[in-house]
Amino acid sequence: MSTDREHVIATATDPVVREFLRMADDSIVAVLPYALSVAAHLGVADEFSDTERKVEELAGALDLSPGALERLLRTLASCGFFTDHGEGLFSLTRLGQLLRTDSPVSMRATLTNVDSYRAWLGAVDTIATGRPAFDSQFGAGFFTHKDSDGQVGATFDERMRERAGRLYSGLATLPAWNDTRRLLDIGGGKGAVLASILTANPHVSGILFDRRSVVERAEVSGELAPLRDRCRTASGDFFEAIPAGADAHLMCSVLHDWEDEDAVTILRRSREALPADGRLLICEMLLPESGEAHPAWWSDLGMMVVLGGRERSLDQYRSLLRRAGMHLSDVTWLPDSFFSVLEARRDDR
Ligand SMILES: C[S@@+](CC[C@H](N)C(=O)[O-])C[C@H]1O[C@@H](n2cnc3c(N)ncnc32)[C@H](O)[C@@H]1O
Repeated sequence: MSTDREHVIATATDPVVREFLRMADDSIVAVLPYALSVAAHLGVADEFSDTERKVEELAGALDLSPGALERLLRTLASCGFFTDHGEGLFSLTRLGQLLRTDSPVSMRATLTNVDSYRAWLGAVDTIATGRPAFDSQFGAGFFTHKDSDGQVGATFDERMRERAGRLYSGLATLPAWNDTRRLLDIGGGKGAVLASILTANPHVSGILFDRRSVVERAEVSGELAPLRDRCRTASGDFFEAIPAGADAHLMCSVLHDWEDEDAVTILRRSREALPADGRLLICEMLLPESGEAHPAWWSDLGMMVVLGGRERSLDQYRSLLRRAGMHLSDVTWLPDSFFSVLEARRDDR
């Protein structure tokens, strides 16, 4: 790399961007996400217990090419996911636990998210047309595609569970739940977020609301199972109707999936289902008004290309709520998180 270019790259204020540009001449930038994704997808880490494994044995168990698997493991060993003991013998490191299915720190579902990579292959079209590339790459919209096959939907539910635990685990202990009696989690996935709130707040009962396929999976397995006496499920379409009966509504990472018109419709359905003194709690990342570096900018592009949605500033949420007959009554920045919780109430004036 020329010294001039290095100096220009050093002016990048975001350390991730700086390192990306430094490594862009090497293959690591293009290969790393796929190598981790492939290792996670194949379940290689799940094959390890506390002992070392021979690559031939692993390849036999997973029906893989021993030579190709050894090259994958050696590369991932070079950055700490495995230890290479030589002569085809490997063990899993603490970092490698991220690739396991059963680990409490697992990122397996996140790392296997190849659907987004595929959508990004068509992202030039999104910039040309403003439409999500996912739809043309997959021949269906994002959530229609999730229903195309039970495994695709279940993998997405698991990724949402993993992500919520990582990005907004602090939600469960918010003072907002102190005076909540029944909470309806709208688009609540398989219920991991609702379960964490109900567990931390034994006086609250819950209703999980999502699409039929998701609710059916939640009824069979998931974190809500031990909380059945305080929680029920309801399935439906939040563009049509949201069930009544709760004094508080929660929408986590739901509105950012949709463009403004759709988001306003979902908010109107929530308003219709809430009692006059009810509250809606919206958990989302906020785009900084000043334009400084923040993960919400990257998520905004991701939403545009994959779902046709968008991230928003606080002012933009305020205006969506106004259009839906609601107003913003409070904002809480979640500790140790890039997410905020916006409290909205019905505008009955
Ligand atoms: C990005 S996920 C968020 C899941 C969960 N709230 C969380 O934070 O982990 C959006 C959720 O909205 C649900 N959803 C999408 N379209 C829906 C619709 N028309 N009616 C009800 N739920 C819907 C999806 O099934 C999915 O569970």
